[in-house]
Amino acid sequence: MDNRAIGIFDSGLGGLTAAAALRELMPGENIIYFADSARVPYGAKSRDELLIIARQDLELLSSFSVKFIIAACGTVSSNASRVLESFSVPTIGVLKPGIRDMSLIPGDSPLGIIATQASIRAGAFRRELERLCPGREIIDLPCPRFVPLIESGHTGADDPELKEAVEHSLAPAKEAGIAALLLGCTHYGIIAQAIENFLGSGVKLVSASHSAAQAAKLWLEQRGLTGGSGEALYYTSGDAGEFSAAASRLLGREIRAGHLPPMDIK
Ligand code: DGL
Repeated sequence: MDNRAIGIFDSGLGGLTAAAALRELMPGENIIYFADSARVPYGAKSRDELLIIARQDLELLSSFSVKFIIAACGTVSSNASRVLESFSVPTIGVLKPGIRDMSLIPGDSPLGIIATQASIRAGAFRRELERLCPGREIIDLPCPRFVPLIESGHTGADDPELKEAVEHSLAPAKEAGIAALLLGCTHYGIIAQAIENFLGSGVKLVSASHSAAQAAKLWLEQRGLTGGSGEALYYTSGDAGEFSAAASRLLGREIRAGHLPPMDIK
């Protein structure tokens, strides 16, 4: 039993998909969520910047004495896995749990991965899936338009700008006849309906956020480290009012986020 909180971080709203999944799987846990909204999007940053950002976000959460951290960000998970794995507080990213779930998709139709441009450039999602599914065709696509649209509120499945971006970005995956698509950026779960509308319900969507929440549950249960009182605190390095409004809309309940000072990359 360990009543300390679980820390979760992302560049903005995306990691809320992991926080929501964790809340559903482990309603008794306490959560500290950090949205680095002042520096979103992470997907447009260099690997060197992401290595620094990863360490800063981990250190910020560890200052809250968390027992475990979920890096609810595909971009950090794919560019800074060593930073995550060597941190003093046990930490998981979303890449490995998401790829593990993808590797269980039966059949021999191609498998799709969508993620930010920094994640696709790093190549780690593809490499890890190739390792687990040798010989299977993999289509990996960067979707740089999605995060800015999501952060600015274009999340409705009928939103014309979002629909156009989804059709444009995912056309190669549809043409390839993929069996499943990994949402390798945690933001993408927020627009899952728009993605499903375009690809059709025959394509299974695998949420890396959900996979990571399940992996966190297993890790904590195996070590007897579960416990808490079901509280959640939210912080952002951006505008607290804006983040609170967007998070409340997405989670379907009132969220009041606190503000933390933005961090410099140095
Ligand atoms: N949600 C994050 C990810 O999973 C970051 C997206 C971004 O800021 O570009 O990659």
